[in-house]
Amino acid sequence: MSSVLVRNIEIVNPDRIFWADVLFEDETIVKISEDSIESEAKVYDGTGKLLIPAGIDPHVHLSLPTHAGPSCDDFKTGSRAAIAGGTGALIDFVTPERGQSLIEATEARLKEAKVSEVPVKLHVGITWWDDSLDAEIESLIKDYGIKTFKVYMAYLDNIGLEVCDLHKAMKSIAAHGGIMALHAELGHEIAKIQHDFIETGRTAAFNHPWSRPAYCEFDAVEKALFYVSATQCTTYFVHISTAESVQLIRKAKAEGLPVYAETCPQYLLLDDEKYNGAFKDVAVFIMSPPLRPKENIDALWDALKDGTIDTVGTDHCPFTMKQKLHGYSDFTRIPNGAGGIYHRMALMYTYGVLNGDLTLGEWVQICSSNAAKIFEFNEFGKIEEGNTKAVIWDPEAEERIGDTHPYSHADINAFSGLKIKGKAIKISEL
Ligand code: URP
Ligand code: ZN
Repeated sequence: MSSVLVRNIEIVNPDRIFWADVLFEDETIVKISEDSIESEAKVYDGTGKLLIPAGIDPHVHLSLPTHAGPSCDDFKTGSRAAIAGGTGALIDFVTPERGQSLIEATEARLKEAKVSEVPVKLHVGITWWDDSLDAEIESLIKDYGIKTFKVYMAYLDNIGLEVCDLHKAMKSIAAHGGIMALHAELGHEIAKIQHDFIETGRTAAFNHPWSRPAYCEFDAVEKALFYVSATQCTTYFVHISTAESVQLIRKAKAEGLPVYAETCPQYLLLDDEKYNGAFKDVAVFIMSPPLRPKENIDALWDALKDGTIDTVGTDHCPFTMKQKLHGYSDFTRIPNGAGGIYHRMALMYTYGVLNGDLTLGEWVQICSSNAAKIFEFNEFGKIEEGNTKAVIWDPEAEERIGDTHPYSHADINAFSGLKIKGKAIKISEL
């Protein structure tokens, strides 16, 4: 057994910050003391460093199947990127074929996820509906410990659900005590606009944001909230990107509806000016929802601060430029998504904490503790004795993000060029 005594480190919990000595045995915290600890263990001077709960990324798509091939990080590379960036658990997705048993698809995805080096949970996609799925939802919750079910209001031609089926899925999930994770964008509206664009020759990549305007998100949020109110189905809105959606969710929470919301670093840090350019400049930013006009950004930060938005996930779904080129002559064929799992904690530290928008406690809350509570990662979210999910954070480390990094197969990065401060140090490396 290897023991390490970390002296004089700043412990960041969501509700309290204090300095202490911390004794680890094999990465487990066995003692925390604000007085000096006496021990024979190897000593690591923690002065100037933080001890934080390992992050949880509640939204990643590793090896997501697309017509351009799978997203280019798998559970091995993706989980290694997570660890290197200070994230100790992730939630990926099961995307059943239409007509396929949810349980069968979940079993297959669980096998794929076995190579992950961090704990993985799964949001099980409900990509079609008939009433037989009610029993599968019940069994996934009771027998598999799966809590969340993903519904897409967009992508109606392959994995999305019509609103009448969304309603049925919500009733079933609510009856069995689950949570719906919801991608809120109006699928029919987007399909119509995209069809019209392609028919009239508007095929270039920069048309992407115009084909899924902001109202397609906030109208979908509003519709969904109507059904949340009717069914009382706990609903977790993924990747919220607009000020108007934030306002709707704030009101829903104030009225006591069971809702949570997530945003992503890309919507907090980047805006739709990134779509001004040629294919190769723009393709890296093709994601859904798209980047928004910059007026939305302050509203998202305010919503993190006042608790309207609970979590920052990445929607990590990276592709290579070769894969993006599948949509060179038709932007609707560009695989959607960007990476972020490796840089999430540092981006939120640099542009949240160091910019003065978040306290350290709020940073760990939105990157770890809130997701730990919502998705029941019981060992995560708090530094305490018995905990095995802690990370040392070196706040002085600095780097400029490049197009590539050692933990991804991607050769493009939406955050390329941004400077970040802060770096995770694994307890096992002390
Ligand atoms: O652009 C994105 N977000 N790609 C991943 C799939 C999804 O919609 O979440
Ligand atoms: Zn996603």
